[in-house]
Amino acid sequence: MAVTGVLLVLFLIAHMLGNLKIFSGATSFDHYAHWLRELGVPLLPSAGFLWLQRVGLLTAVILHIWAATVLALRARAARPVRYAHRKKVRGSYAARTMRWGGVIILLFVVYHILDLTTGTLNPVGDPSRPFANVVADFAPERWYVTLFYTVAVVALGFHLRHGVFSALRSLGQQTPRGEQRVRVVALVFAVVLCAGYLVVPFAVLTGLVS
Ligand code: HEM
Repeated sequence: MAVTGVLLVLFLIAHMLGNLKIFSGATSFDHYAHWLRELGVPLLPSAGFLWLQRVGLLTAVILHIWAATVLALRARAARPVRYAHRKKVRGSYAARTMRWGGVIILLFVVYHILDLTTGTLNPVGDPSRPFANVVADFAPERWYVTLFYTVAVVALGFHLRHGVFSALRSLGQQTPRGEQRVRVVALVFAVVLCAGYLVVPFAVLTGLVS
């Protein structure tokens, strides 16, 4: 879980930084998207890097879900007789919503690809003009799209908060003092990433980017 999680987090950081280029204008943002397609040429064919990334991300997502399933089954097998009484509140809100949070994120990514990669669900839907696609997407009259993105990104934030905390423990953090530190690191990371993603739709919604 931890290793595939780290790979997905690296993508999330890179994608968030790339999205922030929207503030440098249409030419710069579209140029960045074009550069992504040409990355590695002529060693790779055009869009070769993007396809490598897609295969890598899909493999990481499948292994991440597989590891979650194996862990859940193992936990259940370790306690074949269910507890007669079980305390209602166990762990943080983030920890208790990992499974459904993961499902929301997965559904969001499917919608997001049809929206901003293929353009199928986007009012402009031109893959060669990502700036125009983003601006059309989060226009004030389509406030419900911004709302949906907000719900998904907040779900991602909760998932990341617990995920980063667990991953750091799996990767070796052991002491009680270290646990406090790791808790703060996970929270700060999740908040910064959420803010970095949400600032783009809200900048379009409020007319800061147009
Ligand atoms: C909320 C703000 C977000 C914005 C404005 C945004 C914007 C974009 C844009 C413009 C593209 C198309 C890039 C291109 O074709 O050159 C894209 C692709 C993508 N985004 Fe996002 N994104 C956001 C959030 C997210 C989140 C939270 C995730 C993951 C959970 C995500 C995952 C992806 C993936 C997997 C692709 C497909 C990359 C590919 O073409 O293979 N995005 N995004």
